[in-house]
Amino acid sequence: MVFRLKQRFEKKFDEEIRFFKGMMDRPKTTGSIIPTSSVTARKMASVIDLQSGLPVLELGPGTGAITKAILARGLPPERLVAVEYSTDFYQHLQRTYPGVRLINGDAFDIEKTLGDLKNLAFDCVISAVPLLNFPMQDRIKMLESLLDRLPAGRPVMQISYGAVSPIIAQPDRYHIQHFDFIVRNIPPAQLWIYRRG
Ligand SMILES: C[S@@+](CC[C@H](N)C(=O)[O-])C[C@H]1O[C@@H](n2cnc3c(N)ncnc32)[C@H](O)[C@@H]1O
Repeated sequence: MVFRLKQRFEKKFDEEIRFFKGMMDRPKTTGSIIPTSSVTARKMASVIDLQSGLPVLELGPGTGAITKAILARGLPPERLVAVEYSTDFYQHLQRTYPGVRLINGDAFDIEKTLGDLKNLAFDCVISAVPLLNFPMQDRIKMLESLLDRLPAGRPVMQISYGAVSPIIAQPDRYHIQHFDFIVRNIPPAQLWIYRRG
């Protein structure tokens, strides 16, 4: 029991060190200062429709807190495609989540990054990419490119830390829903959903 607790503590500590290292190396791409909480990760993963049979696309998995919650929903690892920009995080995820289809690449250039998988339809997108650090035009372009890969009505779930949606409203092109505000996250997190149809 004490040994298991020690192992859990060491694992958590290792993830946070890795995260701080990511922050120091690339503050613009990492965004938040601490890994996503399990409460937030579970909320984000709750939108997955397991019955759809479609793969799920995760963006910016970082240390894997959301990846873990997605797999805990019962999604087979091979049905998860995860795009991570940082090679350090990518290598860590490869070791921690064997079977997940990990890609070391840029979510803002999703067509090129997905390569052979570019024509796949996904059930939904779950994103922790720090949108606020990037220009609005790039955020909109990325969102529309993601929505092109989802059946009508299915969500792009995005975590953010500001009071308003990180992507401006364009009701003729997509709809925005404020999904949740989660205090049990450092910093407190806002969850946004974008969809078409
Ligand atoms: C706020 S952190 C995500 C934290 C993660 N949920 C966790 O608990 O560890 C943002 C992540 O997005 C990744 N990222 C930033 N820009 C990206 C991009 N253009 N494409 C893919 N991943 C990106 C960062 O490397 C980082 O892992």
